[in-house]
Amino acid sequence: MLEKIESIKSEAQNESGQISSADILEEFRIKYLGRNGILNDLFEEFKTVDKESKGKVGKSLNELKIYIQGIYDERKLTFESGSGSAADNMDITLPGRTFNKGTKHPVSQAIEEITGIFERIGFQVYEGPEIEDEYHNFDALNTPDYHPSRDMQDTFYVDSTGKDRQYLLRTHTSPGQVRIMESTKPPIRVVVPGKCYRNEAVSARSLAVFHQIEGLYVDKKVTFRELKGTLNYFAKEFFGETLKTRWRPSYFPFTEPSAELDVECYLCKAKGCRICKYTGWLEIMGCGMVDPKVFEKVGYDPEIYSGFAFGMGIERPLLQNTEFLISGCFMRMM
Ligand code: PHE
Repeated sequence: MLEKIESIKSEAQNESGQISSADILEEFRIKYLGRNGILNDLFEEFKTVDKESKGKVGKSLNELKIYIQGIYDERKLTFESGSGSAADNMDITLPGRTFNKGTKHPVSQAIEEITGIFERIGFQVYEGPEIEDEYHNFDALNTPDYHPSRDMQDTFYVDSTGKDRQYLLRTHTSPGQVRIMESTKPPIRVVVPGKCYRNEAVSARSLAVFHQIEGLYVDKKVTFRELKGTLNYFAKEFFGETLKTRWRPSYFPFTEPSAELDVECYLCKAKGCRICKYTGWLEIMGCGMVDPKVFEKVGYDPEIYSGFAFGMGIERPLLQNTEFLISGCFMRMM
């Protein structure tokens, strides 16, 4: 039996030089180390060896096993670490990796669409800071100290104790109006998209972090009629020709007169639903003629210049967008 062990050892040694792929290595393993392999046969045979020889034969049999296992382990490592040929390691039957194509967030899409509508009629896009100071967010917009919107309940102050009220997260994009007027001379035609923050309970109609687009038009002799014309144009472009708009008088500290623009509910086509509170109308923006007090703050002469401003929420018009609804942004809140 000792001779047999010896010859198997040299056979294995010869074969080890020809293991050039993982497949051949597997054949090698089955042949020598497999359940019905040569080593198992040898161990079976070992049972019949007479007592005197058992010690010697057993020792060389164990050595053979360690030797062959060693060859196998060593070759296996080379294939696993990729040093075998690439073609051998490649399985062309594996399915390809899928890549998920990214898409723009519905809010970004809406901002691009809305700013695009205004850009086509000569407006430029401007962005202001999200951390604002009290002056730009309130004072310059003719919003006095006692105004309820300054309350901690509505405004997130950077100092969470509310004692230091100098810095805050802007509650609307209107401070963008002030910044543009401070740094530019009329005529001005800008839209200012961006994130806004209000300390509000999240519901189907409101979010604590939301987006607005501000608009500002300043020149000599700008009239309310231009405001209406511009925003009716926008509503037709954005919501389509079929939905009607409605104008209601309103109040904002920084516009006079002020108005609210509603559009027929695009979800229920004005029939009445939960989103429009069964009125058939959705409020889409606040607007008005720039208050002369605001012009004074930025150093424009209100006797020479006039203008209009508007501000609209982005998330609400998106309710017509099924993709947005499916994305769960609003569903979760309804
Ligand atoms: N800033 C106002 C708001 O957040 C909207 C507005 C903007 C109104 C510009 C009039 C003019 O509600």
